[in-house]
Amino acid sequence: MNILMLASEAVPLAKTGGLADVVGTLPMELARLGHDVRLALPRYAALDATAIKLKKAPSVEVPWRGDRLEVGVETGTLGGGAVPLTCIRYDPFFARQGLYGEGGRDYPDNLDRFALFCRAVMEACKQPGRPPDILHAHDWQAALAVAYLKTLYRNDPAWAGTRALFTIHNIGYQGLFPVSTYDATGLPWSEYTPERLEYYGQVNLLKGGLVYADILNTVSPTYAREIQTAEFGFGLEGVLQTRKDRLFGVTNGIDYDVWNPETDPHLPARYSADDLSGKRECKRVLQAEMKLPVRDVPLVGLVSRLAFQKGIDLIVDILPKLLDLDVQVVALGSGDPSYQTLLAGLSARYPDKLSVRLTFDEPLAHRIEAGADLFLMPSRYEPCGLNQLYSLRYGTVPVVRKTGGLADTVVPYVPDARSGSVATGFSFETPEPEVLLSTMFLALRVYRDKEEWTGLMRRGMQQDFSWQRSAGQYVELYARAMAL
Ligand code: ADP
Ligand code: GLC
Repeated sequence: MNILMLASEAVPLAKTGGLADVVGTLPMELARLGHDVRLALPRYAALDATAIKLKKAPSVEVPWRGDRLEVGVETGTLGGGAVPLTCIRYDPFFARQGLYGEGGRDYPDNLDRFALFCRAVMEACKQPGRPPDILHAHDWQAALAVAYLKTLYRNDPAWAGTRALFTIHNIGYQGLFPVSTYDATGLPWSEYTPERLEYYGQVNLLKGGLVYADILNTVSPTYAREIQTAEFGFGLEGVLQTRKDRLFGVTNGIDYDVWNPETDPHLPARYSADDLSGKRECKRVLQAEMKLPVRDVPLVGLVSRLAFQKGIDLIVDILPKLLDLDVQVVALGSGDPSYQTLLAGLSARYPDKLSVRLTFDEPLAHRIEAGADLFLMPSRYEPCGLNQLYSLRYGTVPVVRKTGGLADTVVPYVPDARSGSVATGFSFETPEPEVLLSTMFLALRVYRDKEEWTGLMRRGMQQDFSWQRSAGQYVELYARAMAL
C-alpha cells in the first residue's frame, strides 16, 4: 500500500507526548511490513536537520486567504532511510519555541498554522499518476487534510481514489477556534455547518477529521467505546455514535528498540526479567540523582504531562497521606502551572520523601521508569497511555485508573483472588482520592511480599506490546477503507 501519514509531532524530531512516540514508530513498522509510507511534518526550528538528512526540495504555491503563498518543502528520511519524510517549511509559523504554544498558552494563530501545514502537504505530496491509497491523519492538527481531500481535492487526479483514515489520540483536544478564523481554512462556507465543521458557533477541526474520514480509529478498544458516551466524548459523542460502524480501537505498541531495560543507553545499569540486579542499581542511582536518601524503601514514580486528564489533582490530594508512610516519590512533569506550584510546595514540605522535576527530560523519564518500584497513573481518562506500557517493560508495577487503554493493558491484582497468576498491576475505578489512596495502600502491602511482587514485575516485563501487532491492525483498517 502507498500511505501518506501526516501529524504534528514524531520522535525523535519533535515531541510533547505519546502522539510523537506513535507517529515516529508506526511508519517504520509499516515500512517493515513492505508498505510504501511517507510521513509529513511541519518544519519546526528545533528539528535536527542533519539527523534526518533534510534537503531543500522545490517549494510549492499554496492557495492562502484568496492569494497564493510560497511555502518551503524539505525532504529527508527517518529510521535510517526506511521512511521518506516531507517537512513543510514556513518559518513565520513553525520556527517558534513551542509546537503549539509557550508558557502554558496556545499560539493564537494555531488554526492558520495547521491549516497551512495541511494545505501545503496536499500540494507538496502530490505524485502525478500515483495517488496514495491512504491518507492517514492524526489528531486535530492534521484533520483539515482529510477535509481538503474530500472537498477541495475531490476531483484532483493526484488524489483519485485516496481513502482517509483519521486517528483520534485524545478527544479532549479538539482544535476549537473562533468563527472569525474560518477563512484561513480555505474551505467554502457551505462546509461550516453543524454536520461538518461547525460546533456551537466555533470551528472544530477535530470534528472535521471525524466527519470526513472514511474510517476512524482511536488508540484502544475501551476508549473507542468510551468516547461514544457523554462522560468521555467531550461533546462529540453524538457525532461518533453516528459513525460507530466506522470507528475502531487499535491499542498502541511501544518501540522496544528505545524502551528496553536490557539495552537502554540512558540507564546506569541494564537488567532483564531473569536478572533484576541492574534494576536495584538503577533505583540507587535515581535516589541519588533526585537527592533522596539512598535506602531500601518503596519508590513511586510519576512521569506525566501535568494536566487534569492525568489525575494530577488526585495525586496532589493523596500525597500528604501517602508521604506519612515510609515511601519515596519521584515526579517528572511539565504543564499546568497550578499543578507545578502544588507539587513544588509539597516537595519543599517533604524534602526527604518527594523529589520533583518540573521540566521535559526524556533521559530522566527512562531512569524513572527503570529506578522506581511502582508507577502512578491515575488518569481520569486515557486514550491509550504509553507510560504504563514502558513501566510494565521496566518491571515497575503500574497503579492505574481502569479507563481507556489503561483498562486494556494492565491486569489488576485482586486480593484474595487467584489473580496472582495473571496480574500485572493495580487499578481502581472511581476517580476519588480515597479510592486511589486505598489502592496505593494495597500495592504497598503487596510490595512487602517479595515473592508476590517479583511475580508481578516479571509478568509485566513479559507482556508483548510490540508495534508489530498494532501495525498489522492499521493495515487491516487501511484495507477496509480501500474496499469502501
Ligand atoms: P500523553 O500522550 O497523553 O501525554 P502517553 O502516556 O501516551 O501520554 O505518552 C507520554 C509520553 O511523553 C511518554 O513517552 C512519556 O515518557 C513522555 N513524557 C511525558 N512527560 C514527560 C516529561 N516531563 N519529560 C519527559 N518525557 C515525558
Ligand atoms: C494521547 C493520549 C495518550 C496516548 C497518546 C498516543 O496523547 O493522551 O493516551 O497514548 O496520545 O496515542
